[in-house]
Amino acid sequence: MSYPRIRPRRLRRTPALRRLVAETRLDPAELILPMFVREGLTEPRPISSLPGVVQHSRDSLRKAAAEAVQAGVGGLMLFGVPAERDATGSGGIDPAGILNTAIRDVVAEVGDATVVMSDLCLDEFTSHGHCGLLTPAGDVENDATLRAYAEMALAQATAGVHVVGPSGMMDGQVAAVREALDVAGYTDVSILAYAAKYASAFYGPFREAVESALDGDRRTYQQDPANLRESLREVALDVAEGADMVMVKPALPYLDVLAAVRAAVDVPVAAYQVSGEYAMVEAAAANGWIDRERVMLETLTSIRRAGAQMILTYWAVEAADLLRRTG
Ligand code: PBG
Repeated sequence: MSYPRIRPRRLRRTPALRRLVAETRLDPAELILPMFVREGLTEPRPISSLPGVVQHSRDSLRKAAAEAVQAGVGGLMLFGVPAERDATGSGGIDPAGILNTAIRDVVAEVGDATVVMSDLCLDEFTSHGHCGLLTPAGDVENDATLRAYAEMALAQATAGVHVVGPSGMMDGQVAAVREALDVAGYTDVSILAYAAKYASAFYGPFREAVESALDGDRRTYQQDPANLRESLREVALDVAEGADMVMVKPALPYLDVLAAVRAAVDVPVAAYQVSGEYAMVEAAAANGWIDRERVMLETLTSIRRAGAQMILTYWAVEAADLLRRTG
């Protein structure tokens, strides 16, 4: 009987050895916390399909933003939930709208201690729930929507945001936003483009979080889950249009896309671990079927390993605390 000379298990023998040879590490600085702020709330309101996540009041948002900075997270991504909506989503453009107000609040609270980002999309503000303006026939009109995004970008930049995140998947949205920002002198505001964004059922709990009015789907603008090469085309277009960073969304069901995007571009690549990914783990853990903390860190590690340099995750603060405690 011959015994193996090459023994991979030798490097797995102790925690110190495993730590030494780990190929992927998680750092709080690369985690981005998505946050919801709801107009008119005086107390934070829980989101039942996202246990542990809330719709913030203006006050609780400021407090939570400061806590996230304390935990060392790399960024905050703000979403606004207005009390009233209209056909053109004017609340997203109004400087007094909830999202623009929240940007000013958070920037006043945290300054440059973390990166303040805002979702740049109309769906939270439109009465029909679509990410763009509609034609009389009810189709999402690309170029008219670009003009609205340009205005919204200016409102967010004026409010002091560091990074805007156009997420509506309109053709040409990055170019339109970049031009509007540059013409107004906001050449320093960065664009994190939701470049490869799929029409995913994993966004389910998010719809509750923003009280989405959508009746129908987003398949004429978000991508078909069947396609990978299409993402490379979307990403190349966004980079050519001036995206400073690109995002793949959702994350865990699209790790192949993430790896391909990472290999194709040299700008920072982010992944969004979306609401349904989070909710599935929370639900299984609440039933005692999986080890919540281990699964949390395993999903984040896998998303990093596949090529994401940054991860948007509802666990950002908790994971950051956990990483600091466990090293
Ligand atoms: C669009 C937007 C959505 C999400 C982030 N930005 C919803 C959608 O495209 O339908 C989903 C995020 C999540 O599910 O966690 N403003």
